[in-house]
Formats: sequence, C-alpha cells, structure tokens
Amino acid sequence: MSDTPPNLSTGDLSLNTRTSLPDGYAFLLAAYPRPVWAEHPNNGQWCQFWLQRHQMFRDYSAALTDACEQLSDGKIEAAAFHEWFVPRVNFYFGEIDSHHKVEEYHYFPALAQADAKMGCGIELLEGDHRVVHDRLIAAHETIVALDAAIRETPGDIASAAPAARDGIAALGDALGHHLNDEEDIIVPLILDRTEPVLGIG
Ligand SMILES: [Fe+2]
Ligand SMILES: [Fe+2]
Repeated sequence: MSDTPPNLSTGDLSLNTRTSLPDGYAFLLAAYPRPVWAEHPNNGQWCQFWLQRHQMFRDYSAALTDACEQLSDGKIEAAAFHEWFVPRVNFYFGEIDSHHKVEEYHYFPALAQADAKMGCGIELLEGDHRVVHDRLIAAHETIVALDAAIRETPGDIASAAPAARDGIAALGDALGHHLNDEEDIIVPLILDRTEPVLGIG
C-alpha cells in the first residue's frame, strides 16, 4: 500500500471525472434525503444562508453563460453586454473564491471534527475546490480576452464570445457538481447534529 495520499484533484474521485459520490461519503443522506431538508427543524440560519449562496452561484453561472451566448448570437450589443457583464462576472469570481476560503479555514475543520466518517468527504471537497479554482482561472482568461476584444479589437468578438461562454459553462459545470455533492455530504450532518453542536451558525 502506498503512503502517498490520493490526489483528489486528478484521480478517479476528482471532480473532473467522478459521476457520483462513492459509498460512505454522504453517509447520512439516506436518513435525511433532500425532500426533508427545507422543513427540517435543524435546518438553521447558517445552513439556509449557505444553501442560498450555493443557489446564487448556480443562478449567476446560468445568467453569465446566457449573456455570452446572446453576444455570440448577435442578440445583444457589445457595449450593453460589457456594461452588464463585467461587474457581475467579477462579483461571481470573487464570491466563489471567498466562499471556498471560508469553508476551508472555518467550516470544514469544524465539520471534520464532528464525525470520523466526515474526513474523507472533507478531503474530497477540498480537492474539488482546487479543480473549480483551475477552471475559474481558465474562464478568467477567456473573459480577459473578450474584454480586450470589446474594447480594442471588435473583430475578435466573434471568436472571443463563444470561448468565454465555454469557459463560464465549464466552470459552472464543475461548480454545480461540487455544490450538489457538498450539500449531500454536509446538510444531513447539520440536520442530524444541529448547528450549535457542530460549532457553526
Ligand atoms: Fe465548497
Ligand atoms: Fe459551498
């Protein structure tokens, strides 16, 4: 057996390749399936806020991808697109980064301590963050190229807009997958133990 820990950014469990969570990761999901989350009395203020942030990321991803699609299809003027898109994509990127930092420095350690079975899930989620970060960097490069095309070389918009759409969509795919798995691992633990017991909220 190797002493080297599995690389969760690149192996079979990587967000880039896995299709579902392996057995044992979302170990309380069967007891607390998604349909019971919203009305469960232990779904406290922190959990509700956290789930709302996740939904905000999903909504931003869809809206930003759609805007790039409209620009690609010539359904929106470049200047109007630029004015709408730039502050929102900057907000989206910044919020993803801070959300991950808060999880990694504050919430993940508290959740990992709550149950020995949480360790593998938290490691997996930290590996996901690295994959999402890589896709964010790649998406950012496509956005910089699109910004330059709109401001300096409008002839390049025809190629830069679909590239930006693909970059944002690829980021959104990975992030959405991560959010779903993260929720399946963490929300049932909160409902089972309560936020005060876990030291969050
Ligand atoms: Fe996360
Ligand atoms: Fe999260």
